[in-house]
Amino acid sequence: MAKTTHLIHHPYAPPEGFVAPQFPTYRASTVIFPNVSTMRARDWKQKSGYTYGLHGTPSSFTLEERLASLEGAKFCQLVPSGLAAIALVNLSLLKCGDEVLIPSNAYAPSLALALGELAHYGITHQLYDPLNTADLAQKISGNTRLVWVEAPGSVTMEFPPIEAIVQLCRDKGVLSALDNTWGAGLAFNAFNLYAQDKTPLSVDISIQALTKYASGGGDVLMGCVCTCDESLNHKIKLTHMRLGLGVASHDVETVLRSLPSMQLRYTTQDVTAKFLANTLSVREEVAQVLHPAIQSSPGHMNWLNSCGNTLLAASIFSVIFRPDYSQDQVDLFCDSLKYFKIGYSWGGHISLVVPYDLKMIRPALFNGIDQNADGQALSAGSQVKGSTDSLKPGHLVRLCIGLEDAEDLTSDLEQALQTAFHNS
Ligand SMILES: Cc1ncc(COP(=O)(O)O)c(C=O)c1O
Repeated sequence: MAKTTHLIHHPYAPPEGFVAPQFPTYRASTVIFPNVSTMRARDWKQKSGYTYGLHGTPSSFTLEERLASLEGAKFCQLVPSGLAAIALVNLSLLKCGDEVLIPSNAYAPSLALALGELAHYGITHQLYDPLNTADLAQKISGNTRLVWVEAPGSVTMEFPPIEAIVQLCRDKGVLSALDNTWGAGLAFNAFNLYAQDKTPLSVDISIQALTKYASGGGDVLMGCVCTCDESLNHKIKLTHMRLGLGVASHDVETVLRSLPSMQLRYTTQDVTAKFLANTLSVREEVAQVLHPAIQSSPGHMNWLNSCGNTLLAASIFSVIFRPDYSQDQVDLFCDSLKYFKIGYSWGGHISLVVPYDLKMIRPALFNGIDQNADGQALSAGSQVKGSTDSLKPGHLVRLCIGLEDAEDLTSDLEQALQTAFHNS
């Protein structure tokens, strides 16, 4: 055997039985079969064997199983980002002529997808008021196939009546899909809910941006799609394969490593976030704090209903500063923070801050504005009046609380408030 071949086909095999606390990382595009008949016998859709890197490795199967348990689901599919999880659900379940209903406070790129690709494929959408099930009920038509739920909504944090929405979807025979990034499988059980009369209820699909709490380090993009329904999982799996939505093994390794500490991180961040939200809610500079655990926050009673067992509320909330301040002052507040860094995303160890222009991210809620942040026109049916009614006027800033000490974050906020609003 030539040396070059020897370097590739060396007879040495390490002894079996190596066991370590962390799961090994398997990286593969090619999977090697022992013989042709095994190759022919293997079904890429089954997790009993391996066929090709895109269809799963021991690392990705392990993470999928752990996430399915976390969510209380039977099946889980990993995808390269949270947004890819939203896209996968839409593209698996919707066809030309179908309609999808999206809450008016949804994660903005989810709406952009509906305005872009879904519209191109002849799939229509309407926005609904997440705090008004009557509005949703009258928007569900014969074409409605899927209703998205986000608990709470992005940035403005309205917490919807999840159980009532899921019950309505059941009654009307349409599928419900929850963006469960905030709940993370910890604040409430999406597949084990209860209707008002205490009958068990379940969402059909739950997605998470693992980018946030599951990864926890601000260094990985990943998402997952979970379900208890075998036929839905089959559809999702087929579309996943056809779109080639594989995840990188090192990213899987990172999430597997972070997952055991997720509950500890989530609960610690939750306590600090509640403390800071309460502290800010009594400040004279602040018109309103949008945090589901705060009584005056829109949908607070819905949060209590869904998360009453855990009283968890994650670690992201928004503050509306009084309208008599200037945008420059609010920007100076963000710039003056030392521990809070300016950046998107949430759920990681570093606290983050972002000022938002409500008129840009919720165009449909403001009369006379019919474009979203990317300048795309909203479809005619997209206009919805609704939950801005519960928002006070002013300048909105979103805070995501990391793992820093609560007192340090409090003094950081205090000095930034002084610098921005009291140094004339
Ligand atoms: C509620 C929610 N869903 C989904 C996503 C998308 O996650 P990713 O950044 O992994 O695409 C985000 C990202 O911020 C989010 O906030």
